[in-house]
Amino acid sequence: MSDEEFTSAIDRSRTNYGDDGFSTFLRRAFLASSGYDDVDLDRPIIGIAVTSSQYNTCHRDMPALLEAVRRGVLEAGGLPMDFPTISLGEILTSPTTMLYRNLMAMDTEEMVRGLPMDAAILLGGCDKTVPAQLMAAASSDKPVILEVVGPMMTGSWRGERLGACTDCRRLWGNHRGGDLSTDQITEARSELVTTAGTCAVMGTASTMACMTEALGMMLPGGATPPASTGERLRHGVATGRRAVELARSGQLPRGILTREAFDNAIKVLAALGGSTNALVHMVAIARRAGVDVKLSDFDTIAKDVPLMVDLKPSGKFYMEDLHRSGGLPTLLKELSPHLDTSTVGVTGKPLSAHLDDLHPLEDWQSIVKPLSDPLGKPGALAVIRGSLAPNGAVIKTSAA
Ligand code: FES
Repeated sequence: MSDEEFTSAIDRSRTNYGDDGFSTFLRRAFLASSGYDDVDLDRPIIGIAVTSSQYNTCHRDMPALLEAVRRGVLEAGGLPMDFPTISLGEILTSPTTMLYRNLMAMDTEEMVRGLPMDAAILLGGCDKTVPAQLMAAASSDKPVILEVVGPMMTGSWRGERLGACTDCRRLWGNHRGGDLSTDQITEARSELVTTAGTCAVMGTASTMACMTEALGMMLPGGATPPASTGERLRHGVATGRRAVELARSGQLPRGILTREAFDNAIKVLAALGGSTNALVHMVAIARRAGVDVKLSDFDTIAKDVPLMVDLKPSGKFYMEDLHRSGGLPTLLKELSPHLDTSTVGVTGKPLSAHLDDLHPLEDWQSIVKPLSDPLGKPGALAVIRGSLAPNGAVIKTSAA
């Protein structure tokens, strides 16, 4: 769409006063009080959902990421307008963030629908935030792109490398078992969560970031750059720029979140040995997108996909290591014989085009294992049924 044909969201989806002209007039009058003039408001309006909260330490660096995203939007000729939504910090929310995931999805969806914006950027990270945002995106009638804060860096204690949260439980278990004194566990506590960002292992947050990239709802390479790096900020800038292009093209999430995209993501989940929580979230996201994904699909669709990524809790390493070995694109390239590479994500190009352009790093096999010599056999995640779980349950056999 050319700039001449473009009508900013400010002049659409008006507040209902029974008089469209008055609604537009009033809107521009109030926005003038915030320093906006017609030059600002005739650009594509990019709403940015911000989930910064002092109750969500994983999102501590989000203000810097927001600045980067805003810069990208401005560079591409859009007007960034950020707005808050619920933020779900896993550790500080009682009794469990899962109770609030759907509330956050509704909050996000309704704000994207109700506020004037030509495209939305959803900034998330901690476990339930990204599933909620993907659910919101799936039922959105506007272009949406996700960006995450990225994983935290590891720490070390007495020569041992540590990262939340696999090591949190392990050290606490050692303390309960009498192998670590109260003084020692208190000392180690300060080295488990050393920076901002999401948990350092392939837990729910990292898994859902990878699912977002695999589904095509994030620019390639976005799942793994750590929160504290310039690469995370540069990815944020690129996301801002792309959002403006999405606003102009009108590409909607429902054209991205297809059956083929979910099948790809389920295969990636198996290769990652990702979080079992992802199954619950992926079914919910798929249903919002009108795609029939069932629990049993996780067995059948990924039955030939082996465990390929050596990350805790299934393996030895951390998210920053996966990032240094090429991140999710490297896995996607190696896994491509199992994938439908004709899927098109927020870049507007097929996955095959991105993978053709990708040249894996020399030492990529240090973390991502080749299909010919994987880390574990197929079935890293298994759906089981029995007297304890007649409707089915999931076990991560690779970490059990
Ligand atoms: Fe936020 Fe683990 S507690 S990602």
